[in-house]
Amino acid sequence: MTTLKAICLCKHGLMQTRSAVQNNVADKMTSGFVSCLQQKTGLHLNKDWTQIRGVSSKTDIDKNIKEFKEGKFDKIPDPTHLEHFRKTDKPAITQQTSNLPVTTDDPPPIGTHTLPHPIWTDEELHNVQITHNPPVKFVDKMAYYSVKAMRKSFDILTRFDWGERNEKKWVLRICFLETVAGVPGMVAAMTRHLHSLRRMQRDYGWIHTLLEEAENERMHLMTALQLRQPTWLFRTCVIGAQGVFVTMFSLSYLLSPRFCHRFVGYLEEEAVITYSKCLKDIENGSLKHWNTQPAPEVALRYWKLAPEATMKDVILAIRADEAHHRVVNHTLASMNEKQYNPYEPGK
Ligand SMILES: [Fe+2]
Ligand SMILES: [Fe+2]
Repeated sequence: MTTLKAICLCKHGLMQTRSAVQNNVADKMTSGFVSCLQQKTGLHLNKDWTQIRGVSSKTDIDKNIKEFKEGKFDKIPDPTHLEHFRKTDKPAITQQTSNLPVTTDDPPPIGTHTLPHPIWTDEELHNVQITHNPPVKFVDKMAYYSVKAMRKSFDILTRFDWGERNEKKWVLRICFLETVAGVPGMVAAMTRHLHSLRRMQRDYGWIHTLLEEAENERMHLMTALQLRQPTWLFRTCVIGAQGVFVTMFSLSYLLSPRFCHRFVGYLEEEAVITYSKCLKDIENGSLKHWNTQPAPEVALRYWKLAPEATMKDVILAIRADEAHHRVVNHTLASMNEKQYNPYEPGK
């Protein structure tokens, strides 16, 4: 007597095990079963008895269920081929590991994993205007005068308007400001995210816009860092500033999101003024060489610039981003926190 065990997962995923006596009776039963199956399905089945996945005895079914419950899955084939696990003819999604770097010796270039963000047309790049949204309510005035006070103090501390504004001065200023500018979006997104989790309520579509803004500011920083590496003293100042700003902005966002978005709106107004000044220095000042200096690769990739793009094109793109943050934050500041974000991802 030969015992045959065959395990299969039928169309409905039921596991069956066969244990049968291979004798004349079984052969007759099997050939009847095969011809019946061929008639019903139109499929040609191999008459080789050992390849037929058939009916199981109750003992074997019980045994297999017991093994299954004990975690012995080795007899169970990969279920992804089953019809009810997959609704499409496309290959099942599997983890893509072949193109990913195995070690940090071969990292992908900076800007490879960025969120969607606007890509500006030539017209949009050159039509950015310096604008001002007059403060109306008390909270708006607080935001406006806070930004003005910060700007004035920073300009005096860094002697920005004294002497020549050379490349070193510009790059360090951009680096420092962008390390600060990347904070509000992330803090606001995190606060709204935690709020949604804690209260078990939906967000109103704001989080993605805030995260995009935070990343966009970080990409401004990554681009500026291609031109100059800051000293340890600069890095220490950034650490201190981040500690203070993250704490203050987080507390402020819990108290008044309107104040915070208005504050960022005014901060972005100042950023547009700063980058417009930078463009003036490129056209007719100490940064004339940025008219021809090639844009860093990260900038070409992130803003999808032409291969021959220059640093001037990069500053134009950054200024357009800042103008976008300006309008987004003034809009969010004027909205109720439970109104839907009008900005789609990447828009
Ligand atoms: Fe920025
Ligand atoms: Fe900005």
